[in-house]
Amino acid sequence: MHSSLTSSKKESPITKHKSLLHSGFSSPASQWTYDITKSYDWNYEHGPTFTGEFPKRTIKPLKKFLTFKVNSLFGVPAGPLVNSQWIELYAKLGFDILTYKTVRTRSYPAFPMPHMLYVEPVSARNKDQQDYLGRPYIKKHEHLAMTNSFGVPSKDPDVWQEDVAKTLDLIGEGQLLIVSVMGTQTGAKNEDEFIDDYAKCAKLALEAGAKIIEINLSCPNLHGTGVICYDVALVEKICSQVKNAIGNIPLIAKIGYYSDSKLLNDFVKKNHTYLDGIAVINTIRGNVKDVQVKNSVMRQIDSSGICGKLIKPYGLAMVKQLNKMRTEKHLEFAIIGVGGVTSPEDYEEYIRLGANAVQSATGAMMDPYLAYKIYKKETEQKQDYPLIKTLGASNFQTMIGNSSLTDLKKLYLDMLYPQNTSRVKNTLQISPKPFSLKHGERGRVVSHVYLNHRESLLSDPIDRKLLAQLLDQLIKEKILAGKKSKYGVISIASSSSPELTALMLDLFPDTISRAVFLPDHVLNSERGTHTSLYGEIDDSIPWVLIDDVFTSGKTFKNSLENLKKILGNTYKKIQIYGATLVYRNTEDADLFLKNTKQPIHSLVSLNDILEYHWKHLSPSQKKIIRKERVELQ
Ligand SMILES: Cc1cc2nc3c(=O)[nH]c(=O)nc-3n(C[C@H](O)[C@H](O)[C@H](O)COP(=O)(O)O)c2cc1C
Repeated sequence: MHSSLTSSKKESPITKHKSLLHSGFSSPASQWTYDITKSYDWNYEHGPTFTGEFPKRTIKPLKKFLTFKVNSLFGVPAGPLVNSQWIELYAKLGFDILTYKTVRTRSYPAFPMPHMLYVEPVSARNKDQQDYLGRPYIKKHEHLAMTNSFGVPSKDPDVWQEDVAKTLDLIGEGQLLIVSVMGTQTGAKNEDEFIDDYAKCAKLALEAGAKIIEINLSCPNLHGTGVICYDVALVEKICSQVKNAIGNIPLIAKIGYYSDSKLLNDFVKKNHTYLDGIAVINTIRGNVKDVQVKNSVMRQIDSSGICGKLIKPYGLAMVKQLNKMRTEKHLEFAIIGVGGVTSPEDYEEYIRLGANAVQSATGAMMDPYLAYKIYKKETEQKQDYPLIKTLGASNFQTMIGNSSLTDLKKLYLDMLYPQNTSRVKNTLQISPKPFSLKHGERGRVVSHVYLNHRESLLSDPIDRKLLAQLLDQLIKEKILAGKKSKYGVISIASSSSPELTALMLDLFPDTISRAVFLPDHVLNSERGTHTSLYGEIDDSIPWVLIDDVFTSGKTFKNSLENLKKILGNTYKKIQIYGATLVYRNTEDADLFLKNTKQPIHSLVSLNDILEYHWKHLSPSQKKIIRKERVELQ
């Protein structure tokens, strides 16, 4: 009999959540949905164990993973979700990217018990493989790591196909089901049959209605010497044959940790054309050498897969490497970060390193509220911080790629102007009294609006990235629209543009040829950081002079004049455009355009900002601004 998904009647949802979210888990074992003292089959039949409340979320906006719109970029990888009953629970708990445990083309029994144990690292016998002490109970929470050894059991296809079809009806909107498949080796160790079995299994999953297929490449190889993902030649055959069998359905490869980056490079090089995503990592093998079993029925586990907190550095390292390869080679696969995610901070770490989605197995089994905690943290951050309020800490990269310039403008405006001005300083404050602008204008009173996003936004790595992306989008859409050409960026030294242009060069090497910092204008403090990026301005590409804030246009004009001096006659041959994020003053900008005839494009003007946030102003603030800016009435 399955456990029911009913809720506890003892506490109100809010009390229950508050206590869970604020107290932490004093006894992690008590929260487990999977009973590690019982067999896989028992858990398949009777699990999951859960009697808490289901959290409520307000999802807006949806995020993007591959070609799908999802509520969040978080979920559970192949493993814990052994059937529809498990997936239904985790979907209700707010895990959105859900992978059905690896299935086979035939029924396959689980290994004998134990299937899971807590492990604790101890000094290693040899440097290649870590030793662990295994126990059926947890000793030190900070080591939270497990070993699992199931032998990839599977039901007969008739059973799992029906169950997969059922699962598709149980998950909600904005939730995705990935089906993990693998081939089964025959006694004869026939490679062709093995490869064929992968493709056959993928087709069976497809017939059951799977919208995304994952191939588990972390099973033992045919020679019993390691896992197949390290056998790149074999993997290439599997990937091509599976892709052939499933056509346009997205394909993800789940691989283990590669200590050899050349091998990983080879894997990516040979397989990226077949793959829409790469999920990293599976468990890492370790010697579980001294199992202190209380239950005499348990078998002794020797070398088995380690999962949980301890393997996070390996998962992060793989995501980082894959992201680097993807950027350098302009490849398009998605990266799914897996390994040791037990907190919202772990999730964020993966996202920051380039993961397009993150999944947790051990963490999710131990803490069914993990997805909700991530959601909560993002929502809280949204309230505190203008950028994250709009984007969600994790998904701006995905969103930005698909946003129109109008959307970006809106994001940028949201970023500049928090709902709660009193809590976020240095961003945009509407003051009833006029005051001075600190940057550039030397005490000149310009407006009642004080706009200074530099410190607050540029100090945050996510925000810095966003600003750079906004500029790139602005340049592509407004300046180089329709032209696929590369461009170069020239920074104006007295603003934040050197930082922005340096970042742009890092982030968009496919569209930006070079960043140049005008030598005479580079500030002393910036000179050291950016010397390596100095380059020559030539007429082979269009150039964009960048400013993050266009105040009076004076610095911009000086920079252009300086350019003329540096370039001499070649100046006339070069296409130079100007790009700014904000015009502070439209009249100044008009004057500048008239005087210089320099094509200049801006994302927003001060008027845009005011109009956008007009509704948040008090009547007295409106009155003051109206006086100055009649067009807003
Ligand atoms: C109970 C359990 C069963 C698993 N079964 C599979 C599986 O069938 N296929 C697979 O590709 N990975 C399987 N894994 C590996 C996980 O997907 C994941 O890669 C690994 O546990 C590391 O993530 P974690 O640290 O969040 O647990 C399993 C993991 C656990 C804990």
